Order: sequence, then C-alpha cells, then structure tokens
Amino acid sequence: MAKRDYSNTGVNTKLAHIGNDPREFHGFVNPPVVHASTVLFPDAKTMAGRSQKYTYGTRGTPTSDALATAIDVLEGSSGTIVVPSGLAAVTIPLLAFLSAGDHVLVTDSVYFPTRNFADTMLKRLGVEVEYYDPLVGAGIAKLMKPNTKVVFTESPGSNTFEMQDIPAIARVARSHGAVVMMDNTWATPLYFRPLDHGVDISIHAATKYPAGHSDIVIGTVSANAAHWKQLFDTFTTMGCCSGPDDVYQTLRGLRTMGVRLEHHQRSALALARWLEGQPGVARVLHPGLESHPGHAIFKRDFLGSSGIFSIVLAGGGQKQAHAFLDALEIFGLGYSWGGYESLAVPVSIGDRTITTNSYEGPILRLQIGLEDVEDLKADIAKGLSAARV
Ligand SMILES: Cc1ncc(COP(=O)(O)O)c(C=O)c1O
Repeated sequence: MAKRDYSNTGVNTKLAHIGNDPREFHGFVNPPVVHASTVLFPDAKTMAGRSQKYTYGTRGTPTSDALATAIDVLEGSSGTIVVPSGLAAVTIPLLAFLSAGDHVLVTDSVYFPTRNFADTMLKRLGVEVEYYDPLVGAGIAKLMKPNTKVVFTESPGSNTFEMQDIPAIARVARSHGAVVMMDNTWATPLYFRPLDHGVDISIHAATKYPAGHSDIVIGTVSANAAHWKQLFDTFTTMGCCSGPDDVYQTLRGLRTMGVRLEHHQRSALALARWLEGQPGVARVLHPGLESHPGHAIFKRDFLGSSGIFSIVLAGGGQKQAHAFLDALEIFGLGYSWGGYESLAVPVSIGDRTITTNSYEGPILRLQIGLEDVEDLKADIAKGLSAARV
C-alpha cells in the first residue's frame, strides 16, 4: 500500500485515516495506548542532548501524537496540545500569552468557567480583564489598547448562541498585535476552521463531539506556526498532559465524529424548526435557523451546525422552567453536551455584564443526541405542555 496524503480528501475519509500510520506499529490500524512516565535513552550522549523523539511522558507519546496529528489535519494548525479538560484548553493558552499589566478582551457570551478564570486567576495575576459585546465585529477597534495582548472569542456564544464576526474581529486584533483565540467547541473543525479565518489559537472541549460518549473530559488547543512554540512551552512548563486511555478514546471517537455530527445536525435543525411553531415558545436560539439574527454570518463562515441550541419560553419564570425539565423522560438533566444522549439544562445569563438582552421568559438549552427525532419531539412536547399549565 502506498502512503496517502489525506489533506485533499473528504472529511469522513480524513477522519477514518488521519493521526497514526498503521505501518509504524506492525500494521495494527489503531495506535498503541502508551502508558508512560519514563522513556529510556540508549546512551549518555543521547540523554544529554535529549536527541530522540520521545523523552518523558508529559512531553508526548505515540498515543498523544496520533490525536494531536489528527487534530492538526482538521484544524490546519502547526501544532496541537492535548490537555485534561476543555476548561484546561481555555486556561492554558490564556496563561501562555498573558502577563501582568496586559489587557485581555473577552466576549460577554463566553462559557461561564472561562469568565470565572478571567475574573479570579487572571485578575489576581495582574491582567486587566474587559468584556465586549459578542456582536461588536470590527467595532472592537475602539476597545483595543496598547497593552491588549489577547482577544478571546467564542462563536456561537455559550447558551445564547450569538454569532461573532470572527474574520472582522481577527483582522482588527491582529493589526494591533493581539493574539486571537477562539473556543470553537460548538462547530468542531468540521464546520468551522478558525485558523482559516484569522484566528491564531483554536480551542476545543474535545469532551463534547470528538470524544462523543459522555465518558471523558479532555481538551485540545491548536496553534498556527507563529504561536505554536509559546503554546507548547507553556504546556510542558505546566505538566498538563492528558492520560493515554482518554487520549486513545478521543481518537476512537473522532473516527465517527463526521457521521455523528450529521445526525446531530439534522435532528437539532428539525426540532428547532418545529419548536419555532410551538405555542409557549417565544424564540429558538439556533444560528442555523433563517430567523436567527446571526444567520447571515453563520451561512458565510460555517459549513454546518451541531446539536445544541436554546429555546426561550413565552413568559413565566423558574416554575415553568422546572415544570418543563421535570416532565422530560428521554432528555436527561445534566451538564455537558456532544454525547450520544439528549440533555436539557436551564440557562442563567446573570453573569453577563455588557449584553443586557431581555428574553421573553426562561431559557432552556437542549443538547440533541442520537435518539430518533420523533421520540425527542414527543418528549419536548410533554415538557412544553407541563410548562403551559
Ligand atoms: C464552550 C465550552 N468550552 C469549554 C467547555 C469545557 O469543557 P470541559 O467540560 O471538558 O472542561 C465547555 C463545557 O461545557 C463548553 O461548553
């Protein structure tokens, strides 16, 4: 068999083959799960110069390399680190590129634990943290300061799904010399490739769609050539590697991510469209819907949508939200998303400091799993009917 370059194949072909080369491990199609701290050197000279590919467990193994290489192909990145959670995939690049006295701009629609990290640890380390309207676009120019070192984006926004104009924000940020980071978990690199749109660092909670089975927490951070060394140096300085079994399971999940995402996308869109016409639903917050205010940006930049969106009930408060959630039988009440099973959670936007959008009623976030869409529809209908009485 000749060696094949998968850079120009379809995405499912890529997903089936990228990462490891079976010929490098006796022909077995999957890479070995290397449990390692110590790596032996053949002689003192090699040890002194660390002149061999692997030197210690925290610095990479054939297993972590297989996943990182696969993510590099998907992201178009120069290097990827694999870290123990999606939250670590957010915090490590922020620590890599921010120092005391720097200013960071963070979207107001950011995942709450990212905000918490910025408001506690970054502030304690002397970083000036400022939030901006996710819809700011090129208007971010007004917020840039001489000491702005990082612009952090997440699109669509956590829970409320605002679409950011990433190319416009990235253009301005880069012209001011700031590093552009994006939490790209929602789209996965299959539906949006941040580095092709001016982003420097692409962040994923691989816990979600890549792992895909609600049994692993893991993250990946991918950098372009200009930012890879500093990211990798921080990664090894912090010793924040992920365990080999989790890394292996994530590569295993990646093989089927394309077909799973197609199903998540189809079911979520079908339910979102149906929900738009349901009594008791004021709004559906899904960027793939024509009614979504960010749909034009979504169509311009994204290749598809994943399986998580929110609904806004037409009036009511916590009582109605709890009635909806308690009536569900298939949807579980639990955090996280991207797994095979459907989940629902109430959304709080009490943390927002810049965007003061008002919503007609309680917001509920739905993660649409791989179950049959008609069963999910019937389950949601029970929730809506309970919320109405
Ligand atoms: C957008 C986003 N980023 C990051 C994370 C963190 O991922 P993890 O749960 O693996 O720490 C989450 C988790 O829900 C998320 O929704």
